Amino acid sequence: MSKQTKFLLNEDQMPKFWYNLQADLPKPMPAVLHPGTLQPVGPDDLAPLFPMALIMQEVSQEREIEIPEPVRDVFRLWRPAPLFRAHRLEKALGTPAKIYYKYEGGSPAGSHKPNTAVPQAFYNQEAGIKRLVTETGAGQWGSSLAFAGSLYGLEVEVFQVRVSYDQKPYRRALMETYGARCVASPSHETVYGRSVLAKNPNHPGSLGIAISEAVELAVQREDTKYALGSVLNHVLLHQTIIGQEAMLQMQMANDWPDVVVGCAGGGSNLAGIAFPFIGHGLRGGQKPRIVAVEPAACPTLTRGKYAYDFGDTGHMTPLTKMYTLGSQFTPPGFHAGGLRYHGMAPLVSHCKALGLLEAVAYDQVACFEAGVLFARNEGIVPAPESNHAIKGAIEEAMRCKREGKAETILFCLSGHGHFDMTSYQKYFAGELTDEHYDETELALALASLPNVPETV
Ligand SMILES: Cc1ncc(COP(=O)(O)O)c(C=O)c1O
Repeated sequence: MSKQTKFLLNEDQMPKFWYNLQADLPKPMPAVLHPGTLQPVGPDDLAPLFPMALIMQEVSQEREIEIPEPVRDVFRLWRPAPLFRAHRLEKALGTPAKIYYKYEGGSPAGSHKPNTAVPQAFYNQEAGIKRLVTETGAGQWGSSLAFAGSLYGLEVEVFQVRVSYDQKPYRRALMETYGARCVASPSHETVYGRSVLAKNPNHPGSLGIAISEAVELAVQREDTKYALGSVLNHVLLHQTIIGQEAMLQMQMANDWPDVVVGCAGGGSNLAGIAFPFIGHGLRGGQKPRIVAVEPAACPTLTRGKYAYDFGDTGHMTPLTKMYTLGSQFTPPGFHAGGLRYHGMAPLVSHCKALGLLEAVAYDQVACFEAGVLFARNEGIVPAPESNHAIKGAIEEAMRCKREGKAETILFCLSGHGHFDMTSYQKYFAGELTDEHYDETELALALASLPNVPETV
């Protein structure tokens, strides 16, 4: 057995195209609807929010979309990203399974998020845009857009979910280092933020609320657009560079995954690692199982409804069909801010509905325990979001041990946790508890889903 640990690609092996799963799906995705007319939205409806190049990617059915050379040039700062074989973790678990992880934490912001921040900033600058507004949960996406904005001379304004803003002051400092402005959400800077604070001045915030604030600001100025760090088709598309590289690296390792695991907040890193493998399977190749891991305190795929819903809490976005906990649901303030979203990417949701992927949910303490075991064997301290993927991979490895199977497990280590050490300190002090969502609030949020007839 080879003891090779790192599988590295040269810069000239970096993929030149993004992979669009829509080209290979057995059934097309449900349409995106205008909330007033319940008619499908067209590219023009999205034009106030995004530049046309990104809108065309959002609706494209082409299998391959070229990555512009200037974007690939920026990617060379940290891509291709390494694939590791987790020999030491395998040994610690005593599993016959082989575990590989694709590490996305080597990017400037420390996660997979710059894979889409850079092209989004690039296309906005090409369209003459001067300012981008966005939301951030964990702070990873805000830092990534701040970094990308600094490369392209764009002003960046970030609404950071209140709990994360308080938990992670250094993420804000990082955004400011890249030249962005960061505001805690809900804020007094928007009509919607003020309305939320009027009802609850201590509101912990949520991604749904921060999205509403960012959208409200973005549509007010011609020179400003909105940028989203997950959920949308074009964001998932940009992340497929992860899985495409991983395929080449699995070939280098003379191996192929039986199971692909990713944590899922809005669905972008999961899509990034998994979609190229799903597409390969749909075109007649080997079909690995795909496992999405989410927090038990925000169980969108495992407990949500597959229904039309708003992407934000203030109802400023179109309606998309997705797994949702209801746009009014505020997840408790657990320490994986990037996973506190009421919905799931429509494309990931569609895959779940088609049986192309499965989902599991774990409590945060069990995920931190998995992350610490990983750090003590593999060295990298993972982001709290990524701990969910590690927990999922360990569960698969322990199943292999029980069943005596030497399966190959691949997971996405979406980011490092260097800005998350307060949550690790809390875990070691025994102060981290399993947050349970309010069942009544969830039932109410699900009961108030928009009424869209089945025939639409
Ligand atoms: C490190 C990390 N992993 C995962 C996520 C979840 O996002 P997504 O589901 O879009 O990959 C985030 C979100 O902020 C993150 O920061």
